[in-house]
Formats: sequence, C-alpha cells, structure tokens
Amino acid sequence: MKKGKVILTIVSLILVASLALVGCTTPTVAPTESQPAEAQPAAAGELAVGIVLPTKDEPRWIQDETRFKDALSKDGYSVEILFSQGDSAKEKQNVETLISKGIKVLIICPQDSKAAAASAEAARAAGVKVISYDRLITDTDAVDYYVTFDSVAVGQAQAQYLVDKAAGMKAAPLYLYAGAASDNNAFLFFEGAWMTLQPKIADGTFVIKNSAEAVALQDKATLTRDEMAKIIGQVTTNWDFSVAKNLAEANLTAAAAEDKGEVFILAPNDGTARSIADAFAADGAVTKYTITGQDAEKASVQYIIDGKQSMTVLKDVRTLVSDAIAAAVAMLNGQTPEKTNTYNNGVIDVPAKPSAVVTVDQANVKQAIIDSGYYPATDFTGLQ
Ligand code: BGC
Repeated sequence: MKKGKVILTIVSLILVASLALVGCTTPTVAPTESQPAEAQPAAAGELAVGIVLPTKDEPRWIQDETRFKDALSKDGYSVEILFSQGDSAKEKQNVETLISKGIKVLIICPQDSKAAAASAEAARAAGVKVISYDRLITDTDAVDYYVTFDSVAVGQAQAQYLVDKAAGMKAAPLYLYAGAASDNNAFLFFEGAWMTLQPKIADGTFVIKNSAEAVALQDKATLTRDEMAKIIGQVTTNWDFSVAKNLAEANLTAAAAEDKGEVFILAPNDGTARSIADAFAADGAVTKYTITGQDAEKASVQYIIDGKQSMTVLKDVRTLVSDAIAAAVAMLNGQTPEKTNTYNNGVIDVPAKPSAVVTVDQANVKQAIIDSGYYPATDFTGLQ
C-alpha cells in the first residue's frame, strides 16, 4: 500500500445498481427517488468513488478523513482516500490513479482552486462525475457539484464576533489575516468578514493596523475580487502555521505601542489562529486580544476553554461528509443531487447545497461541541 493512501476494506463501494445486481441490500444513504434505467453501474469489486483531500498536515482534513471513514463504514461502503500533501502535481497524480481504478465519482478538495481544473477535466474526459468538496475548483466547466459550508457566513460570523466584543470602543486596533490566495474560500471568508467589519471601520470603532492595502480600500463597502486579492496578498497566512506566526510577529515588531493594548484579530482558521494568538500573547504591550478562528479543531477547542482563542466557527464535517456521500450516490444512480444554491467558478454556475455554520466560544463550547456529540468531553481538560 502506498504511503498516504488509505484503503477501507469492508465492501467495495459500488453503486446501488451494482448492489442490487449482486443481491445486496440498498445502502442507507441511497436517495429515495426511484433509480433511472440509464444508470451506469460500476462492475462489482470496482472502486466507484475516490476521494482526494489536500493535506495531512492540518487537523481540519484529518477530521474529514475520519468522518468519511466513520460514515462509509457505517453504511457498509469502501472507498479510497488519497492526500495531496499541499502539492497540485501530487493531486493530479492521485486523480489519475483513481481514474485508472475505474471510479465513477471523484470527491475532491483542491489544494489550489485553479490548478485543480486540469484534474477535473481529466476526470470529465474519463466519464467521471466531479464533486468539488469544501473548496471550489475554478476556471473550468468540468465540475458537476459543490458540497460546501456557507463560507461567506463563516467570515461574517468571525467579523460579527469582533464587532460585538468591540461594542462602544473607539479606534480599537484591528489586525487582519487571511487564508491562501490559491483557495477560493479565502476570498469568500474575507468577503463575509469585510462586509461586516467595514461599517465599523468607517464609523471609527476599528483602525486597521497591519495592511496598507486594506487601509487604502477601507471606505469601500464591497470589494472586487482584485481588490480583495491586494489585501489578501498582504495579510495571507497561506493557511500555514509558521507563515502565520512569522507574519504576526513581523506585524507586532512594526507596530507602535499605541497600536497594541486591547486588540482585535481576524484570524482565518484555527491553525493560523493558534499561531497568531501565541505571537500576540507573547507581546508584553498587548494587554488583551480577541481572536477568531474556524473549524473547531480539537486544539482550538482547548484554546477556547483555556481562554487563549476567543471563538471558532464550527463547520460540522459530519454534515459535509454525508452531503458528499448523498451526492455521490445520487450521481451513481444517474440522479441529480439536491441543489439550494450555485457558486460561479469563473466559467459556470456550479450547483451546490451550502451548510450552516455555528459560532462557538467559551459560553457555548460545552453545548455546541460536547453535548452535540461532536467530540467527547474526555478529549479536553478544564471543561466546566
Ligand atoms: C477550509 C477551511 C480550512 C482552510 C485551510 C479552507 O478551504 O474551508 O476549513 O481551515 O481551507 O485548510
């Protein structure tokens, strides 16, 4: 077995039609509509669905792998999950491997939204349906469906948290950080954050301290993609913990004492939030910080309990995984997955079903994370 490759071995993931052909029962995730005659079953024993995830270096994607395994084993499926380790060339190779194994549906979270167009096109050419998972593949028409959270709502939730905590303040120092410019989501998160923060920058509640590009655009309520790209270019973490740490430290070194005190920090996700929070916590001139995150990574849930990270946005990966499986099964049956929205990827409007997100801080961490069954209480210390 190749490194980085996980093979789940319960039964081969075959479409409902094949299951019927070999006399098995219909899996519980099968859609309720009747199966059309033109369904193209994979041969029994063939791998019908392949999954490609971006990297094992971030707990977020290990979460997805774990939740996929949980869901698929419960439903009696087998599937192959490959990781791209942050490398678009490796991602393309993974997709080619899966195509050669006869997959009918590809579930892929692109490392780089644009670079993954070539993989999507290779899949399309081989007659494989493409589900873009969490991150949208852009610049191609070869995407059949997008399973996602409402990423604009993620940015809005992060910004709203900062706005609420700064209520009544004047000229509160604001530090902005963003995800990787190669990830379409980074733009959606930033768009949501900006639409909520900008009025509070305009009314003097916040003063941006670490981005001249953002300052230059601070009077604009909505930004074009190019304008967002300018700001993101200046405050990107590249979704990388050490890039985030170095940037935060450089920002703090450049900042004057009056730019510190009680500060507000838009951090794009949990991994980068922990790095940035550690840098701010280590600065003697920072008396208090409020910092955002997203993903409800275990380490950040512990940071929230310990008062080191202010909030996270819980994106219940169980929902995303079950939506992805439902979409794959629908496609295997020649049906169309449920659509509640579309996302333009620069070429087409991709049908999608975005899921809701939940703001989590110390006040509701027990209810949202533990009582909901997302993680067991035994994974944490100091829970009330
Ligand atoms: C995902 C986030 C994740 C980030 C970094 C984004 O596309 O939506 O959940 O934290 O990538 O991997």
